[in-house]
Amino acid sequence: MFCICVIFVYMAKVKVNKKVLDIPAGVRFGELHHEIESAGVEFGCTDGQCGVCVCTVKRGLECLAEPSEQEEETLWRIGEYEENRRLTCQLVIEKEDCDIIELETD
Ligand code: FES
Repeated sequence: MFCICVIFVYMAKVKVNKKVLDIPAGVRFGELHHEIESAGVEFGCTDGQCGVCVCTVKRGLECLAEPSEQEEETLWRIGEYEENRRLTCQLVIEKEDCDIIELETD
């Protein structure tokens, strides 16, 4: 018996420093750091500890998963207290009906 399985992965448009990337929902941005670096994002640890990849989410914050406890701790440690300041490597697209997500690194 054969089964042809088709899996649809929602891809969101994410504008990163003026470059538009297609990023799948449910995948942590840190896992895609090679692709996202092409938009000028600097990564270090890629696991939410160093704070190098801090960004401002300018649009679509509601489409992203809430920050984890570790991300919040790192943001506090580096002095970032605004809700729209996030660690790029920790972002995960959660909602599938977003128009576009836009973020900018410093
Ligand atoms: S790369 Fe280290 S916190 Fe994102």
